[in-house]
Order: sequence, then C-alpha cells, then structure tokens
Amino acid sequence: MNEISKMQEEIRRLKEELSVTIVAHYYQKDEVFEMADITGDSLELAKRSKESDSEFILFCGVGFMGQSVKILDPSKRVVMPRIACCAMARMIDSAYFDESVRYMIEHGIAKEDILPVTYINSGAEVKAKVGQMGGMVCTSSSAKKIIQKAVETGKKILFVPDKCLGQNIAWMMGLKACVIGEGECDPKEADIICFNGFCSVHQLFEPEDIEFYRKRYPEIKIAVHPECKPEVCRAADFVGSTSQLLHYVRSLPPEQKVAVGTEYNFVKRLRDKNTYVLSSTKPECPTMNETTLEDLLDVLRAIRDNKPFNEIFIEEDTRKWANLALERMFEYFG
Ligand code: 13P
Ligand code: SF4
Repeated sequence: MNEISKMQEEIRRLKEELSVTIVAHYYQKDEVFEMADITGDSLELAKRSKESDSEFILFCGVGFMGQSVKILDPSKRVVMPRIACCAMARMIDSAYFDESVRYMIEHGIAKEDILPVTYINSGAEVKAKVGQMGGMVCTSSSAKKIIQKAVETGKKILFVPDKCLGQNIAWMMGLKACVIGEGECDPKEADIICFNGFCSVHQLFEPEDIEFYRKRYPEIKIAVHPECKPEVCRAADFVGSTSQLLHYVRSLPPEQKVAVGTEYNFVKRLRDKNTYVLSSTKPECPTMNETTLEDLLDVLRAIRDNKPFNEIFIEEDTRKWANLALERMFEYFG
C-alpha cells in the first residue's frame, strides 16, 4: 500500500468514527476529492452542506465556501483543512464596497436606487453589506436568474467583485455593463456597474487559444466558465458554471472533441477521451490546490483529540446580514 492509500484509509476510518462530513469543491486535487461525501460547485456545496446532519463539516475548498456553510447554519462546526483564500474574493472588502457605492452616488444614482449583487466569491463582510442594502448573492450557476430578478426591480445593479462574470451575464441578457476604473463608466448609462475584480486562473484563457484549437480540430466545441474574459466567452460554443460545464461535456457524444476553459483538476476528471484543457499553461487554482491529504488527516486527528483548529467563526451581526443576502438567492433560484 502506498503513502496516499494509507492516508486515505486512515481518513476514511476517522471520518466514520467521528461522523464528520467531508465536502470538496470540484477543483480539489484528485486524492482529496476522492475522500468527499459531498462534491459539487459552489452553489451545490452551500445547499447540500446545509442539509447534512453532521455536527462537523470538513470543507475542502476556499475560505468563502466554508464561510457560506457557517452563514447558512451557525449550529454547524465548519472546519477547513486549510484556510485558503480565493484570490478574487480578496480583491474586495467592506471599504472597497463602500467606495463603489460612493462612486455610483457621485455619478448621480441615489443610494436607494442601487441594488448590489455579490458573487459568492466574496467575504462575509461584503455579503453582509449587500444584505443590508437589500441585495443578494449569486453563484455562476444562479447569476442569470438573480440578475434577471435584480433588473425587474428597476434599480441600477452594482455587481461585485468579478468584472468578467458581470460583463458576461450582461452580454447574455442584452444588458449594458461598465467597469469602475476602466474607461468611461457612467452608471447612468449602464444597467450593471461592475467592480474591477477578476480570477487570475480564468484570465489565462485567450481568444488565441480558441483559434488554435479550432484550426487544429475544426469540429471541436469550446466550453468555458463565465469567469473567463468577455472576448473568450463570446468566441466559445458554450459558457457555463462548473456544474453546467460538467453536464454539457458529459452529454456530448464520445467522439466529439471539446476544449474546456476552466480549472485543470476539474477538466482532467471530466471525461476519458477527446477533452482538452484550453490553455498551453496549466490553469490550476493555486489556493484550491493548497489542501492536501496531510491537512485532512491533521484536522481529523485534531477533532478526535478535541482540539479542532481552522474552525470558521463569524460575528453574529455580520452572519445575519450575509445570511439574508444568501437566502434571497435561494428564494429566487431555488
Ligand atoms: P462555481 O460556482 O462554478 O463552483 O465556481 C466557483 C469558482 O470559484 C470558480 O472559479
Ligand atoms: Fe477563486 Fe479563481 Fe480559484 Fe475560483 S479559480 S477559487 S475564482 S482564484
């Protein structure tokens, strides 16, 4: 038995003994992903962790994902083998959020006419600010429906932190978007005013990568995540969240070639054949990849010894407002 199998065996044993639920996002390393009871994209993980009846949720992912479970159910003890921070979520904090609201006010939009929507890739404090202003959270799976709901209010939408997701959804829905700090961004002229954040992993994909694959395999399909640049999404055949990409690729006939523009570990697991990573560099999410089997084992042993570490705590007032923003998403999206 090799080192990996030995560690996996101990993890399985401790998990049973301690009735811990292990949750893992699709971007986790294979050997960690194999240990999970619940897997999925950020929306599915938030929903399904909430439904689990274990006291301890061992969350293998990035910080905002573990926080979402705690926000939705404070009675759960959420422990992360590693508190890895999504680089995009770190681009915005409460001060930057307030500054963005101020920008819109200074450009002639009254505060009560602003409806903020935050991508789930943000910290609890930002979600709380959004909740306080009557706004909601979205994930890449729910973004279209949530933005549709926001549009129906007739208010100006402040979308944080991912400028690419904001612009891509606007394009899909025939709306006008602009990015604060990029060229002329007049909130009076746009429907969606985006904060200037992005995902460094999804920025790796370029229209040239698409041209390369199309030239090489004229029949190939190109599928990308909406965190990719707008020019990449426009040149693709399919744009979808992690789960939507999974369903799209797996429903293709086996002989259909597809190049996928999203995280490496996930793409490698999608299908045995005819599936390519849409980049010449390896698009691994560095923070998602921080979690190792050793970390999983350490945190399980600590729970067994009654000394859990890396537990998520959120101040109650922040949690309450952030929860409101998250629950609004579930109310509108289901
Ligand atoms: P999903 O909502 O598609 O899981 O995306 C989360 C994420 O961080 C993608 O980079
Ligand atoms: Fe964050 Fe990008 Fe990693 Fe997703 S892929 S967790 S957005 S850094």
